[in-house]
Amino acid sequence: MNRIVIAIDGYSGCGKSSTAKAVAKALGYTYIDSGAMYRAATLHFLNNLTVLTNPKEVAKAIETMHITFQVNPDNNKQEAYLNGLNVEKEIRKMRVSEYVSEVSKIKEVRQELVAQQKKLGKKKGVVMDGRDIGTVVFPEAELKVFMTADIKIRAERRQKEILEKGELIGLEKIIHNLGERDRIDSSREESPLRKAEDAIEIDTSYLDFESQVNQIVSLAKEILAEK
Ligand code: DC
Repeated sequence: MNRIVIAIDGYSGCGKSSTAKAVAKALGYTYIDSGAMYRAATLHFLNNLTVLTNPKEVAKAIETMHITFQVNPDNNKQEAYLNGLNVEKEIRKMRVSEYVSEVSKIKEVRQELVAQQKKLGKKKGVVMDGRDIGTVVFPEAELKVFMTADIKIRAERRQKEILEKGELIGLEKIIHNLGERDRIDSSREESPLRKAEDAIEIDTSYLDFESQVNQIVSLAKEILAEK
């Protein structure tokens, strides 16, 4: 059976992860959350008090960081693990969100994680979401989607998501964090966030979740039918 790679990129908090997860489920594909890998790396750097401007410390942190996705036996969900420990909850916290763009700017961190992501997608049948998936990780992906949404709407969605994980954060703080991450992610030297030329843009501000998932699944099915 033909299988394709679906790359979903876009700004912070556009609903990329939940959309990508649902698209993968509808197609029987594997979902890979590349942002979780940058978040786990950030947690590792924070835990080790790594000084980001010290190349030796950065190299050591990368060497000692082992990020995997495993099924959590408690809820049967695929979650992020750092050096064998489940970090799914920890990496979504504000402490990590506030630092992640700084860690993601580091060339050596990106080189390591991009290499791991390429390996994870080798067999195709993969939906991966992030910032540079269609441009750097899988420039040859058969389907590329670039998601956008109004920042206030993104912040409201993110606030709800964080609350479900037990943290109450004010809307202004979330808007500031999303804006800052968009700014740093888009302006960094190493694989900045940008729309691939052949990506299809979807503005999710006023789209309901089901429609955005169906739109991507239909596009994937069209491509598969032509193969
Ligand atoms: O998708 P997310 O919001 O969980 O990602 C967290 C951060 O990780 C994001 O602000 C930038 C970084 N990131 C990246 O630089 N490249 C990716 N492919 C995915 C995420």
